[in-house]
Amino acid sequence: MIVLGLNAYHGDVSAALVCDGRLVAAVEEERFRRIKHCAGFPHRAIAECLRIAGLDAADVDLFAVSRDPRAHLWRKALFLARHRPSQTIGDRARNIVGIKALPGTIAESVGLDRDAVRSRTRFIEHHPSHLASAAFVSPFDQAAVCAIDGFGDFTSTSWGRVAGSTLHVDHRIFFPHSLGLLYLALTQYLGFPKYGDEFKVMGLAPYGEPQYVQEIRSLVRLGREGTFELDLSYFSHWSTGVQMTWDDGEPTIGPVFTPKLEQLLGPARRPDEPIDARREAIAASLQVVFEEAAMHVLDHVCKATRSTRLCFAGGCAMNSVANGKIRERTGFQEVYIQPAAGDNGTALGAAFHAWHHATRRPRDFVMEHGYWGPDFIDWEIAAVLDRARQAIDQGECTRRAWSDTAALDAWVAGQIAAGRIVGWFQGRMEWGARALGNRSILADPRRADMRDIINTRIKFRERFRPFAPSILVEALGDYFVGAVPDPFMLQVYPVRPDKRAVVPAITHVDGSGRLQTVSRRSNPRYWNLIKAFEGITGVPMLLNTSFNENEPIVLRPEEALDCFLRTHMDVLVMGNHVVERAPVAERTPVGRATTQASVM
Ligand SMILES: [Fe+2]
Repeated sequence: MIVLGLNAYHGDVSAALVCDGRLVAAVEEERFRRIKHCAGFPHRAIAECLRIAGLDAADVDLFAVSRDPRAHLWRKALFLARHRPSQTIGDRARNIVGIKALPGTIAESVGLDRDAVRSRTRFIEHHPSHLASAAFVSPFDQAAVCAIDGFGDFTSTSWGRVAGSTLHVDHRIFFPHSLGLLYLALTQYLGFPKYGDEFKVMGLAPYGEPQYVQEIRSLVRLGREGTFELDLSYFSHWSTGVQMTWDDGEPTIGPVFTPKLEQLLGPARRPDEPIDARREAIAASLQVVFEEAAMHVLDHVCKATRSTRLCFAGGCAMNSVANGKIRERTGFQEVYIQPAAGDNGTALGAAFHAWHHATRRPRDFVMEHGYWGPDFIDWEIAAVLDRARQAIDQGECTRRAWSDTAALDAWVAGQIAAGRIVGWFQGRMEWGARALGNRSILADPRRADMRDIINTRIKFRERFRPFAPSILVEALGDYFVGAVPDPFMLQVYPVRPDKRAVVPAITHVDGSGRLQTVSRRSNPRYWNLIKAFEGITGVPMLLNTSFNENEPIVLRPEEALDCFLRTHMDVLVMGNHVVERAPVAERTPVGRATTQASVM
């Protein structure tokens, strides 16, 4: 049975294809449309999933949509009758019409008959889709499941349990109470208005002292048995209404906080204002309060399910700082989060939910890596470089193809060790928000100046943003405290105090790092590259940041080359093809790790 999962008319629209219970392809629309967090309908993502699988749309048995407009209708009606929010009614009504019309939109998009698609369409509620996205691809046969996000189908938090191929939802927390909304409101207040900016606040938090914890605690009341409620006087999403757009293009959400928040914390920051100590302290305090609330929920889920294993999903499961503390602050001993824990992942969850519901077959798949997008073979890369000959010449770059992959990777490791910044484009594109070594910009983690160089010369982004390490899984304990392997870069752990000066470029201001473990099995070429770097430097890790510049991660060789040429990267490696700028002679070579203290 073939199931195509879709996330549509929400943020981060996406598609995932499941054949006979195994994932074959999963991609986000933003990569094709080149619009971050792209909303609307995932036309291109659907086409790409089918192309990767070598299937026609007519082969698809079920189209599983990760929304259910009929879910919790009486609750919605009751809420609207009581509160009569103004602008949201129009936005929500338009959105629901779009969801209901989806069989027609799918049919038009893939060239099938509308009635045929309608009979094969299944609407899977948003939160069960989140839960399924982790539960049905985790290595655990039995586990607790929990999803925490902004909202979807009137729910912001849900939990329950998975046993084999059966998913039970035990409890939900409904609109308007939401930890995702809490984080969003403070993110907006701190002057980060774009959809998905919450991770910037998470990166800013370690710079501040949490002096506003008491004030921010007053925004959310923790209740019995894992529940919580927002103090709605600080929020506007439920009353005066919020302008939201889920149409084609970048999603937007209007302000969700009221003037009372400014009375509590002082004036909100304008996006063009510098970030002062007060705003850093508020970011730190928000992270503290968010963690308290999330652990309050998760600790209850652990006790209620009597499970030590957790499958976690939802936009709030992208808070990697909180994720790294789950095992320390709750009874959970093992945590599984798949790389697209946000709304992109609901396409995956809807597909597996529908597959299990339809077949009642046992589970036969574990997501052990994040490489589910398209790849490009060598002659396709060569053709792109041929067409771009003039641009390569004008950029004063040279081009070369290597026949020996091991020799190339050893050379690349040497270039990184010499301080050069490498665009690394290999194999299938990553699923989820993180570059995991196939569409990555790589650099030397030992260089204290590397974070500023990449932030200001390559990525053109805020200086406070941290960079993450990719570390050989075998060396994890040598560099991090209390960490467990995570191939998806979704957990933050302390860097061992004695190693912080060794790898300053990936050590955040609070001594932490958001690590990705790399195993030989899950990504042999990337593992070999890091191993070669270790052979030169004694350090078994690379600085890894997504291959992009204020845009979605690059998808095709064309975008990788374009990003390389317009930024200050030194080397581009695509397959076995290299494009290289002249070496920067003034950079100081750095020796082995044992000698690093002298050059920092
Ligand atoms: Fe969600």
